[in-house]
Amino acid sequence: MSSIIQLTRGVPAIESFPSARLAECAQAVLAQAGGVILQYGKSGGYPPLRALIASDADVDEGRVIVAPGTLQLQDFCFHALLEAGDVVYVEEPTYDRTLTLLRRRGARLVSFPLEDDGPDVDDVEARLRGGEKPVLFYIIPDFQNPSGTVASTEKRRRLAALAERYGFWIVEDVPYRKLRYRGEEPPALFDLAPNGVIQMSSYSKQIGPGLRVGYVILPESLAPKLLKYAEDTYISANHLDQAIVSEFIQRGWLAPQLAALKALYAPRLEAVLAALEADMSELGKWRKPDGGFFVGLTLDKPVSTDALLARAKEAGLILTDGRGFFASGSGDGFVRLPFCALTPEEIREGISRLAGVVRVLS
Ligand SMILES: Cc1ncc(COP(=O)(O)O)c(C=O)c1O
Repeated sequence: MSSIIQLTRGVPAIESFPSARLAECAQAVLAQAGGVILQYGKSGGYPPLRALIASDADVDEGRVIVAPGTLQLQDFCFHALLEAGDVVYVEEPTYDRTLTLLRRRGARLVSFPLEDDGPDVDDVEARLRGGEKPVLFYIIPDFQNPSGTVASTEKRRRLAALAERYGFWIVEDVPYRKLRYRGEEPPALFDLAPNGVIQMSSYSKQIGPGLRVGYVILPESLAPKLLKYAEDTYISANHLDQAIVSEFIQRGWLAPQLAALKALYAPRLEAVLAALEADMSELGKWRKPDGGFFVGLTLDKPVSTDALLARAKEAGLILTDGRGFFASGSGDGFVRLPFCALTPEEIREGISRLAGVVRVLS
């Protein structure tokens, strides 16, 4: 195999998109409720989908906003909560686009290195005891992007307790939570502290990101401000896409869709872990996630990221710049390996090319 391998984007596999079923849903909702869906609608989202999400989370509908993706919702939350100079806690590494949003709001970022079972909570506690006053902690506790890490139940409990005691919000971003290929699910932070946690997720990884349908569950005190901000931003979101998702769920098609995704992705996870074991065990370390889209590789010998990306490209391998995931600006030697959109064969070849490049550089 000589074609270029893109180990860059954490996107779903194209073959996972349920296009025919979505087409049926689109036709049905337009026929049944076109007059409502094609009109301006409520800023909180298409009412039937909003109701489904609220009932699933066992909260009042007024606490839910359905919007064009979680990234937009993060921006709304950061607008509502942050002033320039406010302290925000993040994991290190973390999702690069969120770092961009936080920097855009002028947040002062404090990052906590990820351990095997989540962020270093002793360090969090020490900083809080020392008098630091974060406004929020942005965390991706399940199959974290970019590292694949899952926070342990114990750390989740400690973080929820610290948030309550020291008065900061937890923004819990869970787009990969339902993509568990094996093992037991720990409780969501939202389940541990429903009034102190802002939980968000989307259908991007479960159905298709092109739909742009995500949602947030807000504490009662924040919902009115965010609803007003959403209305002032876009009047109402795309209710056609939201109605299609709503119909898809009501027809009972989400559960088989998730089952199909797990069947497609689990062998890809196995392939990346096996390839790392075979080719990289003397060159780096990684955690073995039970789900999600990513494995995070940390090289044993630090290499220049610029050299790594350039050499990889020469070898027909496109990598993401790992430094973008580190609030502190470090990140040399970190490689995010998204495995869902590649076949097991491409994964094996990609890791083999990566090992060849790292050997030359270290
Ligand atoms: C952790 C995390 N949050 C948010 C997003 C954005 O997702 P959405 O399509 O819902 O905007 C992504 C996308 O990759 C992600 O990995």
